[in-house]
Amino acid sequence: MSPPHAALLLLFILAYFRGAYSSGSRSRFTSIISFGDSFADTGNLVMWADPVLPGLVLKNLPYSETFFGHPTGRATDGRLVLDFIAEALGLPFVPPYLAKGSNFSAGVNFAVAGAPALNLTYLQGQNMTVNPPINSSLHDQLEWFQKLKPSLCKCAGQNTDCFARSLFVMGEFGSNDYRNILMSNRTVEQTLVYVPQIVDGISRGVERLIQQGAKYIVVADVFPTGCIPPILTMLASPNKVEYDRHGCLKSGNRLGRYQNSLLRQRIKLLRHKYPHTKIIAAEYYRPVLAFLDMPAHFGLNSSTTLLTCCGAGGPPYNYDFNAGCGLPRVKACIDPSQALQWDGFHLTESAYRAIADGWLHGPYADPPIVHVARP
Ligand SMILES: *[C@@H]1O[C@H](CO)[C@@H](O)[C@H](O)[C@H]1NC(C)=O
Ligand SMILES: *[C@@H]1O[C@H](CO)[C@@H](O)[C@H](O)[C@H]1NC(C)=O
Ligand SMILES: *[C@@H]1O[C@H](CO)[C@@H](O)[C@H](O)[C@H]1NC(C)=O
Ligand SMILES: *[C@@H]1O[C@H](CO)[C@@H](O)[C@H](O)[C@H]1NC(C)=O
Ligand SMILES: *[C@@H]1O[C@H](CO)[C@@H](O)[C@H](O)[C@H]1NC(C)=O
Ligand SMILES: *[C@@H]1O[C@H](CO)[C@@H](O)[C@H](O)[C@H]1NC(C)=O
Repeated sequence: MSPPHAALLLLFILAYFRGAYSSGSRSRFTSIISFGDSFADTGNLVMWADPVLPGLVLKNLPYSETFFGHPTGRATDGRLVLDFIAEALGLPFVPPYLAKGSNFSAGVNFAVAGAPALNLTYLQGQNMTVNPPINSSLHDQLEWFQKLKPSLCKCAGQNTDCFARSLFVMGEFGSNDYRNILMSNRTVEQTLVYVPQIVDGISRGVERLIQQGAKYIVVADVFPTGCIPPILTMLASPNKVEYDRHGCLKSGNRLGRYQNSLLRQRIKLLRHKYPHTKIIAAEYYRPVLAFLDMPAHFGLNSSTTLLTCCGAGGPPYNYDFNAGCGLPRVKACIDPSQALQWDGFHLTESAYRAIADGWLHGPYADPPIVHVARP
């Protein structure tokens, strides 16, 4: 092979392995420990579901079709943000806690699709209909972590600093609280009252992880509730002034904006209180608005950004509460890689890849994860 060809081949190989080479081989992290909801669940809910929740649509194609080719319990067509982060750090996909017999030495995922920040007993006490009605909240996930900790530390060599090389990921949390509360016939005004409690829960969770030895924690903000097809469908209004320039409901986005501003203040306080812990503030909210602003920049089709890819009912949102993704007669759009909205509540793999890129390299994480990953 002549030298120019060799150089080209090398460039190609470097580009191909960019994720792994830019950080993986030189990353301080040897494990990822994750808490959250369907934005991070890699299989817990579907394992729980047998036999508690029969008929769960996450168990069916086209969920996971793009990358895995078979259902994995991920609430998207392929990989999640967490999967792209694991790949970039040269680590395996984070195994779900409920996958008994898994090897958790390179990480464990406590996230459960549908998990709220507030717990089941509390929400039901407030007369909310909670779906799914299981104990999978942030509080429950932290209890599981506590239970598993001795065995995780055994993997790490039984020292007091057993999480010195672990990347913790907290969140997002909040979307399911808002979904449960809004679907229980509460107004956005009535829902805003719960925001400080949700932020307290997340902040207490982060402190608890620090007390257990966490040194590096990604804290994710909440998604713009006013931009998701089921909420746009349920709260549809003839009044144009209720929508922003992205086509999202302003009132729905007040929840996310309020939570995220309180959460940012808490992160500042936590950084001050625990100067030896690195807290990374990561965003779901701003990238979603960026996708809606400049779809082509992210390879998305601008005429379908608010249309559910795997849904039914046609424009403007292609969302039907009685025809959810995963049901036999509900089909995915022809090219999910150009779509933003997957099943109404969740984004496509394309969108998650772009968000993960923003968390790893900026601008959607402060500081970017690869900066922290350098040993
Ligand atoms: C778990 O995986 C690690 C590598 O990630 C390996 O070193 C270890 O031997 C495995 N443990 C078991 C019990 O398989
Ligand atoms: C439920 O949440 C409340 C308030 O956050 C907390 O005090 C309580 O311990 C939790 N209970 C359970 C069973 O999770
Ligand atoms: C829940 O509903 C019951 C029965 O309608 C009512 O007595 C109770 O006050 C309600 N609780 C809250 C917190 O709204
Ligand atoms: C959830 O946890 C609470 C408190 O531990 C318990 O009373 C309740 O029965 C549990 N609910 C379910 C559905 O497991
Ligand atoms: C929903 O809330 C409104 C106003 O608070 C009330 O009038 C209505 O009866 C409620 N509907 C249901 C199904 O609970
Ligand atoms: C974008 O979506 C519209 C509507 O589904 C379709 O007609 C068009 O061909 C798509 N554009 C591209 C570039 O695929």
